[in-house]
Amino acid sequence: MTWLITGGAGYIGAHVVRALRAAGERAVVYDDLSTGIADRVPSDVPLVVGSTLDGELLARTLADHTVTGVVHLAAKKQVGESVERPLHYYRENVEGLRVLLEAVTAAPVTAFVLSSSAAVYGMPDVDLVTEETPCAPMSPYGETKLAGEWLVRAAGRATGLSTASLRYFNVAGAASPELADTGVFNLVPMVFEKLTEDAAPRVFGDDYPTPDGTCVRDYIHVVDLAEAHVAAARALQASPGTDLTLNIGRGEGVSVREMIDRITAITGYDRPPVTTARRPGDPARVVASADRAAAELGWKARHDVTDMITSAWAGWTRRHPDARRG
Ligand code: WQD
Repeated sequence: MTWLITGGAGYIGAHVVRALRAAGERAVVYDDLSTGIADRVPSDVPLVVGSTLDGELLARTLADHTVTGVVHLAAKKQVGESVERPLHYYRENVEGLRVLLEAVTAAPVTAFVLSSSAAVYGMPDVDLVTEETPCAPMSPYGETKLAGEWLVRAAGRATGLSTASLRYFNVAGAASPELADTGVFNLVPMVFEKLTEDAAPRVFGDDYPTPDGTCVRDYIHVVDLAEAHVAAARALQASPGTDLTLNIGRGEGVSVREMIDRITAITGYDRPPVTTARRPGDPARVVASADRAAAELGWKARHDVTDMITSAWAGWTRRHPDARRG
């Protein structure tokens, strides 16, 4: 099949492109390069620069490349920014998806994989989050992801398009240093930044009802996440009319303090963290049940937190050669 990967020049998208190609699929990248980087797209993969709000260009791209499957990752993804600019997030993430689905359902595309997020669950009050845990997003970002799932499912039901919404938990790591996340918006790069500035990493609150008082998350290696997309693509190809909603995590909770300890050990920076105020809106614990993805896709994460930090650090030191090495 030929897959259109929207957002394929982004951090996660570039990994998905490589995983699909390694699995023998053809790929075309569609990206507006607002945060994507053209160099992340392999030289023999066509790159179409455009917005998901441009229905004409989308229709032309689907036809020109005889696309039969779509993996849609192009979206805005900063929770805080979504609170400040909700209309922008709804336009990019919901209207952009609606326009894309219009083009997709008018073309001979049979499979659609949506990049969703654990943010749809909001503040889940359960030990392990299953796909049946009620969705109660806490930010416009999470709302747009949940609305996106609804759009995709409704379009699938109406047209027979096979669909999968993959709810990513906390993504980290890289397949190779040049594919590492260049954004500094999440725990791992934020700790790298502090350490390499010779400052103390920050723990946003240590009075949560968790074993060490810091927030617990389910970290997933981007290479495993990319492989989950390949498994979902295969499942949709094998069963037309499928409609999947799947958590993509490891089912293992790791606290902020444990992560920072692991990061300081791996990077060789011996700098104890400081505790600051809680970050508003942070849930105490968000850990996936990964059972459904295992059952439906035969997929399971292979990489641990050490692999994530080690590979992310290789990317960081490539871009910050002065960073002292451990
Ligand atoms: C993890 C934990 C912080 C930095 C967000 C989105 C989610 C998804 C992934 C997108 C939290 C703590 C962080 C620091 C800290 N987004 N922290 N010190 O908030 O779980 O998830 O990113 O696509 O939708 O909500 O991820 O990496 O920001 O934070 O203590 O310097 O680390 O408070 O508990 P989060 P995160």
